[in-house]
Amino acid sequence: MGKNIIVIGCQWGDEGKGKIVDLLAERADIIARFQGGANAGHTIIAAGKKFILHLVPSGIIHQGKYCYIGNGVVLDPFGLIEEMEFLKNEGISCAGRLFISSATNLVLPYHKLIDGIEEKKRSGSSIGTTLRGIGPAYKDKVDRCGIRFCDLFNQQRLQEKLELQKKLKAEYFDKSDDIRANIEIVYRDLMKISPIMKPLIADVSYELEKHKKEGKSILFEGAQGAMLDIDLGTYPFTTSSNTTVGGALTGLGIGPKMIDEVVGVVKAYTTRVGSGPFPTELTNEIGRQLQTIGGEFGATTGRPRRTGWLDMVTLRHACRINGVEKLAITKLDVLDDIDKINICNAYRLNGQLIEQAPLDLGDLWNVEPVYMEFDGWKSSTTGMTKFGDLPANARKYLDYIAHELGAEISLVSTGPGRQETIVV
Ligand code: GDP
Ligand code: IMO
Ligand code: MG
Repeated sequence: MGKNIIVIGCQWGDEGKGKIVDLLAERADIIARFQGGANAGHTIIAAGKKFILHLVPSGIIHQGKYCYIGNGVVLDPFGLIEEMEFLKNEGISCAGRLFISSATNLVLPYHKLIDGIEEKKRSGSSIGTTLRGIGPAYKDKVDRCGIRFCDLFNQQRLQEKLELQKKLKAEYFDKSDDIRANIEIVYRDLMKISPIMKPLIADVSYELEKHKKEGKSILFEGAQGAMLDIDLGTYPFTTSSNTTVGGALTGLGIGPKMIDEVVGVVKAYTTRVGSGPFPTELTNEIGRQLQTIGGEFGATTGRPRRTGWLDMVTLRHACRINGVEKLAITKLDVLDDIDKINICNAYRLNGQLIEQAPLDLGDLWNVEPVYMEFDGWKSSTTGMTKFGDLPANARKYLDYIAHELGAEISLVSTGPGRQETIVV
């Protein structure tokens, strides 16, 4: 019986989770998403093709694997259809192997409209969301007025719930000539896709337990990253879900013993899209170099990603709140040409050295990173597959990270492709 592994991003997202999940999916039977929505952009390069997935679990690329979307996800049903079509055109069928929890809340066109309106209202303090309607959809879920996947198959209930939306969101809908505010059109379009969605419905919690009892192994795919967690990330500059291991338990309806191993994905430097504090940000030539060489442009929105040095303070926090035991370190190759590489080991705040991330954002804005300098390796690691082949300085860099985080390195990624990986 294979292990059930959970893959969690340890920074501000885009650590390379898609590639790692695709890689680990080979040895899993089932791949499950538990939170987030189409704000995610997970890139997989397989058989020379590039796939960017937003909702469908990254395991779908492997034929014969079963994929589940849990109740903790907020699902844009129209986006899902587009993604399934895209996959179909690439020769990958989701039929009979993609399932969605009946309790999954939907992201509907008006959520995206409201996301945009609210970001504008925040003006100077906007979050820089992906405008995929994620925050407004989670808000409805918590407010107990969300439309759930099962509502798509009960015409009368769907109509009643949408009528309620009209009343609750009158301030956005009345006088709006945006088509996304037109509830009749939303209803009509949902009814159109309802038959396509029907075969996907499942009791995900029940199914996962059943698979476990049959000895199947499950891979849990996190989206976003620990520092974007709604509770313990850089609030309010976060997403609206629990991106941590805890999110998998509630987002799929599983107990803690269902997870055998926690793999934290850590990019060898740091990136962030959107607003919010980023203590180790580089706005200089090296920052631009990391952005260019690393191809740091959002997989969902195309926005340039902010770049900076690796930050052990936020990583310690991420590892603790997730119980990370194994590390997958990605994009090592992006550092190949850099002369001197810094790692932030502590922050200085009001003259004091601190090693733990402050939860008060007022403090995080004001910290000054304290760096340790490492000599670069100045040679290509691209595509390397053996740890022993890595230059000594690269090994030193990796060993330091693992030692500081008290975790073992299980994978090192040296390029975007499946094969460009060191399995330790
Ligand atoms: P995710 O959201 O965590 O799945 O990450 P993204 O897919 O948004 O961003 C990661 C980007 O880095 C993608 O373009 C990947 O193809 C690419 N990538 C992943 N691993 C590596 C690596 O080891 N080296 C390089 N150069 N690129 C990588
Ligand atoms: P993956 O899974 C990077 C960021 C947005 C914004 C904040 C809130 O590809 O790593 P939201 O639309 O969720 O309300 O935006 O969170 N964000 C991400 N950044 N990778 C992601 O996903 C992200 N999903 C959301 O940029 O700052
Ligand atoms: Mg991404």
